[in-house]
Amino acid sequence: MTQPDREQVLSALNTIKDPVSGAGLSDAGLVRGLVLSPDRVGFMLEVPRDQVNLYGPVRAEAERMLAGLPGIKKAQVVLTAETEAPVQTPKAAKLSPQAADQNRPKAPVASSRPAHVKRVIVVGSGKGGVGKSTVALSLALALKGLGLRVGLLDADIYGPSAPLMLGVTTPPAFGPEKMMIPPQAFGLKVNSVGFLVDADQAMIWRGPMASQALNQLLTQTLWGTEAEPLDVLVVDMPPGTGDVQLTLTQKTMIDGAVVVSTPQEMALIDARRAITLFEKTSVKILGIVENMAWLENPVSGEAIYVFGRDGAKILAQNLKVPFLGDVPLDPALRKGSDEAQPLVALEPDGDVAVRFKMIAQAVMAQLD
Ligand SMILES: Nc1ncnc2c1ncn2[C@@H]1O[C@H](COP(=O)(O)OP(=O)(O)OP(=O)(O)O)[C@@H](O)[C@H]1O
Ligand SMILES: [Mg+2]
Repeated sequence: MTQPDREQVLSALNTIKDPVSGAGLSDAGLVRGLVLSPDRVGFMLEVPRDQVNLYGPVRAEAERMLAGLPGIKKAQVVLTAETEAPVQTPKAAKLSPQAADQNRPKAPVASSRPAHVKRVIVVGSGKGGVGKSTVALSLALALKGLGLRVGLLDADIYGPSAPLMLGVTTPPAFGPEKMMIPPQAFGLKVNSVGFLVDADQAMIWRGPMASQALNQLLTQTLWGTEAEPLDVLVVDMPPGTGDVQLTLTQKTMIDGAVVVSTPQEMALIDARRAITLFEKTSVKILGIVENMAWLENPVSGEAIYVFGRDGAKILAQNLKVPFLGDVPLDPALRKGSDEAQPLVALEPDGDVAVRFKMIAQAVMAQLD
């Protein structure tokens, strides 16, 4: 069954009224970080702090309505109470998304680097479901394949995926000074927001709470030691370009960002927004990875350009940022993620692994 697209979801959300302005939720500018991945939809309902109680029923109604849309198996609406400014009026919501972003409150700037970590790179994209987690994990494994000590931090507050993709079920143990000792999988040190908060129970996530959780994962995990520091920490960012992402980029010393996009127009628009966010917060753009770039016809070997051709390459050229490489839509890659058997680790000489190796080399070249 086909899934509704972004526009359809936004117009469905407009059938629910914002109790304050009387406008539909989308028009009222309350829908943030909309994530549409195969069979899953979610967003953040961002409201002023003193009106959280008012929006509890709205959250529940939005979630019920989305879950009832054809093609959607799971819907998750997270209520956050970060904005102090009044809810945007329908007029304000007509501003471009970029302009709306500029009206957002600025997070305090005091960036720090996690202890015993030489480099932090983030993998982000404006759009959900483009393969950020897949790319973050595969890149981490490829970096490890280059002989580096690598960690993976799954920072996706909407739906942590690293524990599932790696089959890690035990949360980190606590060591001295309440530091978390990250579990290891396929040679990576792993920590996830999913270990810290039970996503199903934490439906009311205040933005600052999410930011605090991420900060805790970054700074209170024993990523390395004085003698054996981690060479690279790969952070799988939550989708979107909201305050959680903004705070993360401002509070943590980030050495660079990898932006993932499919060649599809909608994904490219969001990738551009992610790049703008990184630029605004002075995070170096390491480059763009084009994911799901084509599908190989298993009979003829011919490439089928499911989501259009070369969109991310052209975006990289236009924005004058490096193009790091492309990865096909490969059913084995998806299967490996679903079965906690990551393809890059299991078939290190296969086409996908070699592509990620080249991407890893291009990333390291940008960092040196
Ligand atoms: N190149 C690829 N080939 C085949 N399947 C892929 C590829 N990249 C991602 N997938 C699959 O697409 C789905 C979405 O990918 P993934 O979870 O990595 O995206 P995401 O951007 O992290 O999504 P979210 O926004 O939900 O966090 C997953 O089922 C994943 O296995
Ligand atoms: Mg993800």
